[in-house]
Amino acid sequence: MLRRNLLKTLGMAAGGYSISASSNAFSLTPKRALRIAHLTDIHVQPHLWAAKGFSKCLHHLQNLEVKPDLILNTGDSVMGSSGISRDKAAREWELYHKVLTAENSTPMVSCVGNHDIWCPPTASFSDGKKWAMDESKMTRTYRSFDKNGWHIILLDSIHCRPEGTGYYARLDEVQIDWLREDLNNTPSHTPILVASHIPILSASVFFDGDNLKDNQWVVPGSWMHTDSAQIIKLFHRHNNVKLAVSGHIHLLDRVIYNDVAYCCNGAVSGNYWMGKYKQTSPGYAIIDLYDDGSFSNEYVTYH
Ligand SMILES: [Fe+2]
Repeated sequence: MLRRNLLKTLGMAAGGYSISASSNAFSLTPKRALRIAHLTDIHVQPHLWAAKGFSKCLHHLQNLEVKPDLILNTGDSVMGSSGISRDKAAREWELYHKVLTAENSTPMVSCVGNHDIWCPPTASFSDGKKWAMDESKMTRTYRSFDKNGWHIILLDSIHCRPEGTGYYARLDEVQIDWLREDLNNTPSHTPILVASHIPILSASVFFDGDNLKDNQWVVPGSWMHTDSAQIIKLFHRHNNVKLAVSGHIHLLDRVIYNDVAYCCNGAVSGNYWMGKYKQTSPGYAIIDLYDDGSFSNEYVTYH
């Protein structure tokens, strides 16, 4: 769709970055089927102005001329850290829920982020993940649902490293089998949006940290899915996979590969509530999904 029309329907002035794709050149006027506010990396914590900023973001999205039908939160809802006490981790979740209860009336679905999993050396990773699931009101870390003619898939990127400490990004065997089956079971005319905390494919992972070592680019397996090639191959067998969104890097980028748009959608917290992270401002994405399988993904700042 034309960018000026997109901005008009967003009810906002030009700013941020947008991507849009039309799947059917003969379609007359595609009808918006679903509007999603994609929030990621909120990193609520008692300090700084995290709760205030999160409230501001929720007000911004709910005051748009066309209000989103759904909030998609791709994780890192709290600051967390293996170094904090269980009490402090619990207080962060309390604050997160307090803001949501007071300031939000839009339905929300979530993915688990690495910061949501409280896992000091004395605790188990799976217990930490279970706690994050309970706080995010989910019974499974990966799942899918249909909404207004689109199929939405939420993935679980975060897995404990084989050596027992830290995490890396992948789908385990059970999850990749489930994904294969879920894609097979989705009618080929139903467009698909995929969401994960860690990007399946991203350009900004090259710039998150000092990644050039001895003249070689090095991207850690905790920054981008280590099984990207396998997932991309799977997507390629299903040309109804249109869009894959993520967070984690706190930077904004769009990679189009094999006709799938991979959008890494910045961070609500920006640089952990200290302004911009590199060139990316704190913000969230408005994703409009249309009835002909086309979509738009626009990053908006809320300050
Ligand atoms: Fe994060």
